[in-house]
Amino acid sequence: MPCPLPRLVMGAFLLSLAAGAAMPASAQGQVTVYCSILEEQCREGAAMFEKSTGIKVAMVRKSTGEVYAQVKAEANNPRGDVWWGGPGEPHLQAAAEGLLDEYKSPRLPELHDWAQRHAQQSGFRTNAIYLGALGLGYNSEILKKRGVAAPTCWADLLDPKFRDEVQIADPSSSGTAYVFLATTVQRLGEEKGFDFLKSLHKNISQYTKSGIAPVKATALGETAVGIAFIHDMLTQKLQGAPIETVAPCEGTGYETGSVSIIKGGRNPDAARKFVDFTLSPAAQDINVKLKINSIPSNKASQLSPDAPKFSEIKLIDYDTPRWGAPVERSRLLRKFDTDVKTLPR
Ligand code: G6P
Repeated sequence: MPCPLPRLVMGAFLLSLAAGAAMPASAQGQVTVYCSILEEQCREGAAMFEKSTGIKVAMVRKSTGEVYAQVKAEANNPRGDVWWGGPGEPHLQAAAEGLLDEYKSPRLPELHDWAQRHAQQSGFRTNAIYLGALGLGYNSEILKKRGVAAPTCWADLLDPKFRDEVQIADPSSSGTAYVFLATTVQRLGEEKGFDFLKSLHKNISQYTKSGIAPVKATALGETAVGIAFIHDMLTQKLQGAPIETVAPCEGTGYETGSVSIIKGGRNPDAARKFVDFTLSPAAQDINVKLKINSIPSNKASQLSPDAPKFSEIKLIDYDTPRWGAPVERSRLLRKFDTDVKTLPR
């Protein structure tokens, strides 16, 4: 009499084959993503990627400087696979320190020249996904109530009228705040730049952990002025917050939002697929869906109709590779901690 067991086993195998397309996501692999863009973008992107590939995404949202520190701390036993988003400097520092993997995505030729240049400059260890100009935002209701004129220049923020009324993140944890630090040093030179930061320190109510926190605080009226990316402040304005955005009169810097593969991660194939996804129009069009106004790197991605126009913003000749070099970034952050943050207010 034939034994029924092999038939049963075979039946189960065939059943699972037939169900192939609908296999549970875990059966298709997984990828751990450290995400430094907005929480809602991270969630939407993870869900889209899981749906289209069946690869399960474990997502952790952290600010850019925090992810850099984590990737460095985990270098001997990497737990993450992909680092998605945040300004380019901490990514470039990690690339130069051998913490990121080289990868030439087949999507590279679809990107704008500035984005292809960013990848080349990193030895293809990071990729550009968006641009965002730095600026300031103010709560128009608070300024009106206090009879204070709206700031139009960086220098206006030094006015004692803004004492305890300006928020910016901490440049060690936040990529946004590091872009502000590097912008100030490039705009004024290092000595005068740090003098400016020391004067501004008197008006800072707190250095927040994430770059988006001052935007939310300004929108809610918890602070009169926030320093952050213009596209983030614009999102709050479009949602009805009494926040006005300013591209400062002296000129400003900008971020090259980046995505990288963490060297030695446990899921390199899935990581490469995830990076390809972040460079695709489908992933970058999440911006338009969520009314996020940064400028996407893929030529075929949609540009939000509300995105700030770079041609109308006075930009300085911002040098991302220079200020993302390990010596410069580490030095500037140390100097900010010792010469500015510790000063009494
Ligand atoms: C927001 C912005 C991004 C930026 C990121 C940086 O998500 O929309 O354009 O790259 O903040 O965050 P961080 O907390 O590192 O300043």
